[in-house]
Amino acid sequence: MDATSQRLLMCRPTYFAVDYAINPWMDPTTPVDAALAVRQWEQLRQTYRDLGHTVEEITPVPGLPDMVFAANGGTVIDGKAMAVQFRDPQRADEAPAYRAWFEAAGFEMYDPKHVNEGEGDILLAGDHLLAGTGFRTAHASHAQLQEVFGYPVITMQLVDPRFYHLDTALTVLDERTVAYLPEAFSPGSQAVLRRLFPDAVHATMADAEVFGLNAVSDGRHVVLPVQATDLAAKLRDRGYQTIGVDLSELLKAGGGPKCCTLRLRQGKASK
Ligand code: ARG
Repeated sequence: MDATSQRLLMCRPTYFAVDYAINPWMDPTTPVDAALAVRQWEQLRQTYRDLGHTVEEITPVPGLPDMVFAANGGTVIDGKAMAVQFRDPQRADEAPAYRAWFEAAGFEMYDPKHVNEGEGDILLAGDHLLAGTGFRTAHASHAQLQEVFGYPVITMQLVDPRFYHLDTALTVLDERTVAYLPEAFSPGSQAVLRRLFPDAVHATMADAEVFGLNAVSDGRHVVLPVQATDLAAKLRDRGYQTIGVDLSELLKAGGGPKCCTLRLRQGKASK
């Protein structure tokens, strides 16, 4: 399996906190160690650098504790960047901050017409865009994604509130394969996943509950929460190299490695 070196966007969790609850993992009464969150995040960033990826950073904004979850900042494919529109007012101000970053970086900008939480719900898998809905990203935004990016969009209906973003229930491993938690999807979406990815890795609930599916793969190395031991073993059986990271503080906000990471895909010439 060939690894591709990636250009990634991250946001240091300088102002990380759990001040509100917009998913079932968040409990504002649980103490959060912000300094530990920063150290864990730095370890994730180092892991990417060691793999040869390029990590760019957006400046964190005070008062936006979830801004660390860069995956929700946009969808960037073939040099085009679709900005986001959050469901919850607590995260609304992150959208213009990320939009400004993409614009300054020279991406061709598109604005969302409906709720769209970026790579949290929109995942490029080979020649298809898998697009989650049910909790955050609106179904209506899927049509716009297809129009902007020109990839066939496959709607994935999420049914378990703990797995509220697609990237908490499904990982793209390479151009042909994904790993996912079947129970997180409606029966129809499970049938679509079986049809599109007959060789997919099926994760257990125990793996998913530690955010094992919130993983980042370069086609060969898979960075995933160290707690997801069964999933890591299954991936190694398939020939992937697994790298465990501990993001226990960020899990208190319902986030993991993939949530902290946005893939910046250039135009065709310089993929
Ligand atoms: N607290 C954040 C929220 O609920 C976590 C976002 C996690 N991001 C992700 N890509 N799954 O919106």
